[in-house]
Amino acid sequence: MNKGQACRAILSAAIAVSLTWSAGAVAAEPVGPRLTEKLRGLLVKEMVEIESAMQETYSAIIQGKHDEVAQKGQAIHDSFILEQSLTEQDRQDLMAAVPKEFLQMDERLHQLAASLAEAGKQQDSQAQVETFNRMTESCVACHSRYVTDRFEGLEGQSNLMSW
Ligand code: HEC
Repeated sequence: MNKGQACRAILSAAIAVSLTWSAGAVAAEPVGPRLTEKLRGLLVKEMVEIESAMQETYSAIIQGKHDEVAQKGQAIHDSFILEQSLTEQDRQDLMAAVPKEFLQMDERLHQLAASLAEAGKQQDSQAQVETFNRMTESCVACHSRYVTDRFEGLEGQSNLMSW
């Protein structure tokens, strides 16, 4: 191998490594199968409740039902299972199963829900629409990163989100 060939070999090895890294950053391992049965059950229950609260919120926003927007925002905020109804053991199981970024995304969604409740109280429809959009982004961002085992259509979408 001459010097030029050696350089190219090193370069292509470096590219292969960096491609593996960036792919790793985009498509994280699905979280669900790593959870204990109890935690997974709680998470799914939370998700189903959040989805119906989001649908009701949409309806309330477009009809100017500010009190209902405030109430749904609060309900989503309070549904934070990762904060409530967990024993110390559950908490440890959770920390062991999910990456830090997952918890941060969940935390972010719940902060947005608090902002939504506030926008409802303020009777500010513009802020409600913007916050609702951000919340929808957070669903897609987390699902496209951590739930590709179930939501195949979201595979490869997470790099489009700046989350
Ligand atoms: C921090 C990550 C995260 C965020 C943010 C998130 N989800 Fe999820 N969601 C999950 C995980 C993980 C699952 C898969 C659970 C499992 O293993 O079955 C899931 C599953 C779901 C499901 C399927 C539930 C079922 O029937 O099994 C729905 C519906 C859902 N999410 C709605 C939402 C909505 C609506 C939002 C945004 C308002 C949202 N999620 C935000 C992590 C997230």
